[in-house]
Amino acid sequence: MEAQGYSKKDWERHYDEKDLGWDLGEVAPPFVNLLESKTIIPGKTLVPGCGRGHEVIFLAENGFDVTAVDYSKGAVNHLNSVIKERKLVSQVLHLDFFTLDSTHDGLYDLLIEQTFFCAISPIQRPLYVGTVTRVLKTGGMLAGLFYHTGQEGGPPFNTTRDDIIKHFSDSFEIRELSQAKNSAEQRKDKEWLVILTKK
Ligand SMILES: C[S@@+](CC[C@H](N)C(=O)[O-])C[C@H]1O[C@@H](n2cnc3c(N)ncnc32)[C@H](O)[C@@H]1O
Repeated sequence: MEAQGYSKKDWERHYDEKDLGWDLGEVAPPFVNLLESKTIIPGKTLVPGCGRGHEVIFLAENGFDVTAVDYSKGAVNHLNSVIKERKLVSQVLHLDFFTLDSTHDGLYDLLIEQTFFCAISPIQRPLYVGTVTRVLKTGGMLAGLFYHTGQEGGPPFNTTRDDIIKHFSDSFEIRELSQAKNSAEQRKDKEWLVILTKK
């Protein structure tokens, strides 16, 4: 399979041109429910491909110790300015998620997936699984929304229930894999709510 989708330059251009069709402008509603139901609890948390960081801000405001990663300068600059303005304490790393060094290994209690798995080339999915497995503690949780676009091509690249089972079941216990109930209007009936714990 060939690499498909966007290069770093393509993502950067979207921020430069403020062409951010994926950006909900707020935390994705299912994460609010995960907090309210105490499915996710404060701890050391990683948000890969954080974009403008609505999840990062939401979690930081609710006591999570968040590290956010994005390789687009426009995303990182925006998020840093919001963190400063709101006087929050979070780390924003301007780098390629797949190059996180070994100081991150086994460090995180929680990883939040929101429109990053669908943004990368499908050929990188094993690398995604390898990286999230590496950085989570044993028993650590991946809580995410995976985009079932039902369409060819991307980004966003379609994610089926079988894709999730195929990629994650070797290294993770699947605690929940169901259609998200309160997705943002534009993603209604197209998101898997996924809760995994690292074996
Ligand atoms: C579809 S956007 C989603 C942003 C954010 N999660 C949201 O839902 O608004 C995907 C993001 O992943 C970033 N990205 C793509 N590949 C990356 C990589 N290898 N390392 C770090 N960031 C990456 C892009 O710069 C972009 O901000």
